[in-house]
Amino acid sequence: TAPTLGTGDFPGSLSGPRLARITEEHGTPVWVYDADVIRAQIARLRQFDQIRFAQKACSNTHILRLMREQGVAVDAVSAGEVERALTAGYRPDGPGEPIVFTADLLDRPTLRRLVELGIPVNAGSPQMLDQIGRAAPGHPVWIRINPGFGHGHSRKTNTGGEQSKHGIWHEHLAESLALVDRHRLDLIGFHMHIGSGVDYGHLEAVCETMVKQVRLSGRDLRAISAGGGLSVPYAPGQPEVDTERYFRIWDAARRELVTELGHPVRLEIEPGRFLVAGSGVLAAEVRAQKPVGSNHFVLVDAGFNDLMRPAMYGSSHRVTVLAPDGEPRTDPARDTVLAGPLCESGDVFTQVEGGDVEPVPLPRAEIGDLVVFHDTGAYGASMSSTYNSRPLIPEVLVEGEHTRLIRRRQTVAELLTLETDLPG
Ligand code: LLP
Repeated sequence: TAPTLGTGDFPGSLSGPRLARITEEHGTPVWVYDADVIRAQIARLRQFDQIRFAQKACSNTHILRLMREQGVAVDAVSAGEVERALTAGYRPDGPGEPIVFTADLLDRPTLRRLVELGIPVNAGSPQMLDQIGRAAPGHPVWIRINPGFGHGHSRKTNTGGEQSKHGIWHEHLAESLALVDRHRLDLIGFHMHIGSGVDYGHLEAVCETMVKQVRLSGRDLRAISAGGGLSVPYAPGQPEVDTERYFRIWDAARRELVTELGHPVRLEIEPGRFLVAGSGVLAAEVRAQKPVGSNHFVLVDAGFNDLMRPAMYGSSHRVTVLAPDGEPRTDPARDTVLAGPLCESGDVFTQVEGGDVEPVPLPRAEIGDLVVFHDTGAYGASMSSTYNSRPLIPEVLVEGEHTRLIRRRQTVAELLTLETDLPG
């Protein structure tokens, strides 16, 4: 889908002028989130027994703290994400498995840490079950199943089927269950996550497969997880996910299992994007512009090291242009290619998957204007890198009238210490 011109609507209590004040205080580029938008998204999924936030979408510990205060559990995919959850106050031994570790392999230090903390492991390979079982017989585990099909907003976010490295292939469940038995692992439940930006046409098939796999396994499971993947509207006119329907279909599957197993079965959902995407924006400053043949380039001070989604997936984000005082520019639209400062031709925010630039209609921008990328609360800051030796940029959380810095800007000196501050 081609990028589209935004209408200037901001999340929650953010506005153009308020954003301009935040950039005056914290500089550009800067990520800004609205806490109330996150709370409202959580409320839309309350029917599920447990919401588990896939923190990879936005792993700032202050956002995780907000999640915890809302009763949302958390998923971790690395030792770093486990430590983030602990810092945010999650207790690994609390009720309902507050932290679950999902991956396709266990590196040695992470394995040790998970055993030490007793954190349940959602296994994506038989080797994970074997390794955790040898290290800690009786350890709590989930099994993530690749049902043989999947779907994503990009090929890169499809996590089911033969092209995907994720989960235990549905035909290999028996050997995994044998490992569960051999190590007397405590099997909590089955998990399926078939991709990000789910096509709801797959929903029934996923649920059917879940019921079938539980039946085939003959196991007395306590929980099932619907995974994440719920999409959000990135372009005007894109539909919102019907969370009622989503729940109904999963709940029907759960009821079947309750009847068969004769006891309650916890139904979990594991969204990342759905909870945070719409809460966040990235604000950057226009620093240069130039015609290049028939293209008009506007260059801003954020690059794909900050917001990677367009370069990685050809994703498009609504864009608003603000004058320095925060008032939206309303000049007649002009086809514009929006790009960043990096030394790569792919450092373009308006491009299609594959890399071709895609001019989009934008108001005429002046040097010093702000360019706002909307719906960047998910997979924005969390996918940033320091490529080109550009330090990580700040994150700000807005809550009603309050504005709080939740990550300061990294300094170049901090980047260099890893190389200068060496032992010996
Ligand atoms: N559960 C598991 C096991 C996952 O691997 C993921 C995402 C989620 C839940 C949450 O998916 P979500 O609800 O956020 O779609 N960087 C890409 C998305 C990659 C997602 C990876 N796994 C993007 O920017 O679109």
